[in-house]
Amino acid sequence: MQVVFSERDIAERVGGLAREINADLGGGPLLVLGVLKGSVIFMADLIRRLEMPLRFEVVALSSYRDGDEPGELHFYGMLPEARPGERILVVEDIVDTGRTLTELRRHLDAHYGRPVSVCVFLNKPGRRRRPVAVDYTGFTYPGDGFVVGYGLDYAGRYRNLPFIALLEPEDR
Ligand code: XMP
Ligand code: MG
Repeated sequence: MQVVFSERDIAERVGGLAREINADLGGGPLLVLGVLKGSVIFMADLIRRLEMPLRFEVVALSSYRDGDEPGELHFYGMLPEARPGERILVVEDIVDTGRTLTELRRHLDAHYGRPVSVCVFLNKPGRRRRPVAVDYTGFTYPGDGFVVGYGLDYAGRYRNLPFIALLEPEDR
């Protein structure tokens, strides 16, 4: 396993993201929507650096992947309601082909009928199939290898690593 972004890199970058979000959305209440499960560690770090009144909810979705290819997207349960005046910020772990975020954005825009901002910890543009709008990006990883840690898993493992690492054959 090869470290790509260290714990220290991550702490610094999350601080920078929080400053951007505080500057843009700092005026009023915020509803943070974390996409399970990958975003929970990132969301926990990020929201502790946000300064506006906020609450968070989680949304569950799953893309049944066929090998490395994204499959059909399923949403579980009901979307949490937003209160009047709340801005909405979606927090995702990673955008790879762009399929998940495109579908999620469509779903959320239709449900909430107000602009939804998106914050993604890791952008992996190498396999992007369609352009997808991301308002706040933590890091861009230029390769197309599979990365784990800081919430990202391989078959459920490695989410607890405090850094982002490139998965190697012996880690599978
Ligand atoms: P798409 O292709 O829809 O992918 O943008 C988003 C989802 O695919 C998973 N994914 C990864 N998970 N390391 C991971 O742990 C990776 O390198 C990786 N690439 C894609 C992830 O579930 C994400 O929500
Ligand atoms: Mg995910």
